[in-house]
Amino acid sequence: MKPFKIVKALFFLFLIGQASFKAVAQNGNAVYLKEAKFSIGNDNAWADSAFNDLNWKNIKVGDVWQEQGYPDYHGFAWYRIHVIIPSSLKKQSVWGDSLRIFLAHVNDVDETYLNGKKIGKTGSYPQDAGGYVSKWPAIRSYHVAANDQAIKWDQDNVIAVKVYDGGGSGGIFMGQPYIDMLEKFDGISFEQTAVKFLPKQQAERSLNLENKFNTTVSGKLHFKVINELNKKTVLEKNTNITLTPLSHKTYALQFPQLEGIRLIYEFTENETGKTKTITEIAPYLLTPAPSQKPEFNGASVLGVHPGSPVIYKIAASGKKPFKYRLQNLPKGLAFDQEKGLITGVAPQQGEYHVNIVISNKLGTAKAILKIKSGKQLALTPPMGWNSWNCWGLTVSDAKVRSSANAMINKGLVDYGWTYINIDDGWQAPVREKNGDIVANEKFPDMKGLGSFLHQQGLKFGIYSSPGTTTCGGYMGSLNHEAQDATTYNYWGVDYLKYDLCSYSNQIAGDTSLLAQQKPYMLMRDKLAQQPRDIIYSLCQYGIKDVWKWGRQMNGNLWRTTEDITDTWQSLRGIGFSQINNAAYAGPSGWNDPDMLIVGQVGWGENLHQTHLTPYEQYTHMSLWCMLSAPLLIGCDMDKLDDFTLNLLKNREVIALDQDELGKQAERLINEKNIQVWVKPLSDGSKAIGIFNLADDYSGYNLDLEKVKINKASIVRDVWQQKNISKNTKRIVCNIPPHGVRLYRITS
Ligand code: GLA
Repeated sequence: MKPFKIVKALFFLFLIGQASFKAVAQNGNAVYLKEAKFSIGNDNAWADSAFNDLNWKNIKVGDVWQEQGYPDYHGFAWYRIHVIIPSSLKKQSVWGDSLRIFLAHVNDVDETYLNGKKIGKTGSYPQDAGGYVSKWPAIRSYHVAANDQAIKWDQDNVIAVKVYDGGGSGGIFMGQPYIDMLEKFDGISFEQTAVKFLPKQQAERSLNLENKFNTTVSGKLHFKVINELNKKTVLEKNTNITLTPLSHKTYALQFPQLEGIRLIYEFTENETGKTKTITEIAPYLLTPAPSQKPEFNGASVLGVHPGSPVIYKIAASGKKPFKYRLQNLPKGLAFDQEKGLITGVAPQQGEYHVNIVISNKLGTAKAILKIKSGKQLALTPPMGWNSWNCWGLTVSDAKVRSSANAMINKGLVDYGWTYINIDDGWQAPVREKNGDIVANEKFPDMKGLGSFLHQQGLKFGIYSSPGTTTCGGYMGSLNHEAQDATTYNYWGVDYLKYDLCSYSNQIAGDTSLLAQQKPYMLMRDKLAQQPRDIIYSLCQYGIKDVWKWGRQMNGNLWRTTEDITDTWQSLRGIGFSQINNAAYAGPSGWNDPDMLIVGQVGWGENLHQTHLTPYEQYTHMSLWCMLSAPLLIGCDMDKLDDFTLNLLKNREVIALDQDELGKQAERLINEKNIQVWVKPLSDGSKAIGIFNLADDYSGYNLDLEKVKINKASIVRDVWQQKNISKNTKRIVCNIPPHGVRLYRITS
């Protein structure tokens, strides 16, 4: 069960996966399964090959039924695919062992039969013990022994698929189903483990080769390292490999840790001579190792409502333990030396400047924190984590707690990452008798979870919809807005993402702006009645230019587009389209181009390393900071690798996002594949991002006058945190494919 729009976006992800390493191999001789007979309903007699389905409708296999003119039906439906299985498939196969029936993905559960014989099942139906479990992200590839009597060679066969759609879209989708014969080669899969960064600009990637079949496979692994700038081979290595049945082996491969390095892994199987290839841009580090001396990394302003509870963790990196000295802390607030935490009650309206001195044995950092007590929250864009891009609807209390622990233990909190936001999937199917919302069995103690987060200086975020149900089919807030807001306050919630979803059914046919605004106004007023500060995140995908009216809803952020996925197409489409909304962003109200797609993502149980290249990830983080976008990490925090941590812990890059002025960058140059974005900063300097949207390296010579800068006294590369030139009128650079150069210019 998932929102329909996600599925469309994920289709791209699937294509990319096919092109690179998640490929499901398909042998030369395949028979495509394009058409089927189709009926909604359920009768196990429909599995039988002899059943007469002449009166059934026709359906294309590979697209959800809603996209083919069928109604938005949820429940059981059957596909009956008629196919002649030619014996030539078997004859031409080298291994000759098994027939593969590849059905791509199924929304949401399937049980598949060949001529009445059950050959596989993925997911579980509502009637099954344990209840309904959607497995739409899993690829269905069912194997039948070549000598199985169920296969009728050279005759009509019926592959019957009993599908259950639990919500959203339904059917066989996200790929073209086929049948073919398996080769031993198909049992081989590779997986890369996280890169280890070694001294002397070296790095190591381990490649895990697995033989998933019950037969021995041998072949050759060819590893090649190419310098993308001059296309020269830097090194090559060949290794002979034999994998016994159901075994795996790991190979550690080293390469230079530099920008512009491509890695190619090729496995050629001996019997068929077939080759599988994975290629990737090698991860490389740009953020220098942090200083051991204390450095303050937090935003310089904090917005609170007078009288609200305050929890504010001082974000500082360096060698712990620290000693803090705070001066001018307003009355009502106290400081916990041990935790570096300001807590208490927000002072009466006014601006308070707190002097902060942080020291350790190696040095001292000084900062001024301006506490602005008044009407506005989120004076800089919220930073934190959200469960959606990794856990999807499988989020649980344990996953949230371990994400919070990772936020602390991996030092992200020292850079200002503080919100821990539960997205969809926490709600119980029914409310209490009195109408109160309750969490499902995955969240046994919401109030306890809130306290757990607060004790560590983290903030607690939650998710709902103004409709009857959320996008994932969970309980929404319709007609219970006041009650839900009260419950959130009781649980200690600091952030609400309010997602339109099924509310569109409530206003179907009403195209007025007011109809779109109404649910957000209602919840705005209910949140305002709570005695705590709750950041309000409007999620309605940019309908009716929400950036023009999000502030009237007291929105602190508003999504400007549909959901993001971890592909260049998605990142490019969303990030670079933020061109007409800059004027509306600023302290307390931010354009939200959706969450970060770095690290291990997957919207459910099967997580994968983001499909973005390292260049694209630098672009992602740079562009989001230039856009003053909310920064919400969307990955499995326990599996954060050193590359991703390095990407997320650059104090100078984050400082662009958290700059007190809160001006969103504007695109001042858009020439062929180069875009130059400029963001004014509170100290009078400017950030410049030069982005290369081309598929190859591009050289660029930026005349600073073109971006309204007469002269730069200092040009600083913020990723590398070093000054690269002085007193200049131009910047000359060479930018990697889909990459960026990010500078801070002091005039
Ligand atoms: C919508 C939102 C996503 C996520 C899901 C949850 O698609 O845009 O960010 O919250 O709903 O179902």
